Amino acid sequence: MVISQAGQSESAQRYPVVCIDGPSGAGKGTVTWRLAKALGYQLLDSGALYRIVGLKAHEAGLLDTDEAIDENALLTLTQSLHIEFEPNQRSGRVDIIVNGEGVGEQVRNETVGGYASKIAIYPQVRQALLKLQQDMATRSGLVADGRDMGTVVFPDADVKVFLTASAEARAQRRVTQLMDAGQTADFDEILATIKARDERDENREAAPSKPATDALVIDSSALDANSVYEQVKAYCQSQGICFNTQ
Ligand code: DC
Repeated sequence: MVISQAGQSESAQRYPVVCIDGPSGAGKGTVTWRLAKALGYQLLDSGALYRIVGLKAHEAGLLDTDEAIDENALLTLTQSLHIEFEPNQRSGRVDIIVNGEGVGEQVRNETVGGYASKIAIYPQVRQALLKLQQDMATRSGLVADGRDMGTVVFPDADVKVFLTASAEARAQRRVTQLMDAGQTADFDEILATIKARDERDENREAAPSKPATDALVIDSSALDANSVYEQVKAYCQSQGICFNTQ
């Protein structure tokens, strides 16, 4: 697999890395986007990598089993993917291009999140994605969003934040998001799905989702997106990250 982001050139220089880890729905995406924009850094949406592999594995029929997934087939599939991220100012996220074709919003839904969480337990898949993620920090400053950015992928990062929130608060945010988009939403069903995904992500052997020992943990349950951003920004500044582009 190859990942790239348009308009960046490579060099061996060490650039600043800011890691924003935590479970889905805690507000990582918004903070990551705003930080990357304010700092002029690249954005690594590592969850998108796992989502693409999960979606492609589903399409290839690899997930149609109650037994363990065929890890070798999963690895071959992972290695066959060329993934590019393109910042989309309108949506405030990165667009994902796989093997030259844009992947729609489908990749962001909870079903694909579940596929991602299933394939993410396999060490060979994680290993295949590791260097590619690390290489992104050789091109410019990076804000990296994920589960293991601060623990495994960038253990020497300049800033590590673990952004969390209660499962109930995260489920409520998802319900509001779906209803705002004119869709129906069942709180209990969404809560159960969130808890199942947390359970798998936190208890897998390979790179489980957990705060790095040197991470600042922020509970966003009772905070709005702006206060979370301001807290994270102030913490970055206290760690020597310079916001001179604003
Ligand atoms: O952040 P997200 O919801 O897009 O992530 C989808 C799944 O991918 C998540 O449930 C677990 C997996 N993931 C991972 O194992 N490691 C990461 N760094 C990012 C995501």
